[in-house]
Amino acid sequence: MTILLSTKAATMEAWRDALLAVDPALDVRLFPDAGDPAGIEAAVCWTAHSMAELRRYPNLKLIVSMGAGVDHLMRPPGPPPGIPVARLVDTRLTQGMTEWVLLNVLRFHRQDGEYRAQQAAGIWNELPAPDTAERRIGILGLGELGGDAARKLLALGFPVMGWSRRPKSLPGVEAFDGPAGLDAMLARSDILVCLLPLTADTRSVLNARSLGLLPRGAFLLNAARGGHVVQDDLLAALDSGHLAGAALDVFEPEPLPASHGFWHHPKVILTPHAASITIPRSAAPQVVENIHRARRGLPPNNQVDFTAGY
Ligand code: GLV
Repeated sequence: MTILLSTKAATMEAWRDALLAVDPALDVRLFPDAGDPAGIEAAVCWTAHSMAELRRYPNLKLIVSMGAGVDHLMRPPGPPPGIPVARLVDTRLTQGMTEWVLLNVLRFHRQDGEYRAQQAAGIWNELPAPDTAERRIGILGLGELGGDAARKLLALGFPVMGWSRRPKSLPGVEAFDGPAGLDAMLARSDILVCLLPLTADTRSVLNARSLGLLPRGAFLLNAARGGHVVQDDLLAALDSGHLAGAALDVFEPEPLPASHGFWHHPKVILTPHAASITIPRSAAPQVVENIHRARRGLPPNNQVDFTAGY
């Protein structure tokens, strides 16, 4: 089967090698060297690849999007009609995200910012001990990523709540759904973790009103998409003292402009959309399996649902 591969130049060859290690019979073409457009049967690509460009391949049977989020596919013109799209659900990607969540939850919970500042000032001073059992964590989104983070936070002893669009239950997690459930969970979240898919319904879900519902002194973690947060409202909530801190991995636009207030804000911990990065070796087997399924006329695993938007 002939595959068009299109991703960042720095990882293109690692991806090709990883795909060929799983199935040496694949013919992998590195974009833009696609050869005869009629030969391409599957496209493996990420956000920078134009969906309009994929309309050039008359025999395309499958698109694999090389990440967890699919909001980029929802924008016009979208993928060529009738071609199934699969996203990645990868244990290493999930693990990476959970590590980022745990890192930042523990950083805020254990007053790391205050202790670092005290160290810089040469101050020996014990702060009040944090109580894990009292630090309520609310997770927005209980899918692959939110579910894994919830389990590991529970294992550390935090009380964990989770919100999803439709009712969902996870052992040990207090579940909320719908708009009323969202407000109820926010009002009790000392640390709020956003891992939602970005859809028309979830865009700007974290705004002046909803951030205002969080308990005073709460922390926000966002590793989903910048579009979930009204960034000026978040800055205002940090500056007013309502929020004590935010760990942010995603922004709108990206890269975050050099002049943006988040960069040097004392309460903001910033990473450049690097919370979790797909490792080609780990993700290649599921990509190849989906390519084999397409050849047999089967729908891919982890097919994107364009009605739900994820
Ligand atoms: C990264 O942001 C992803 O969606 O995988």
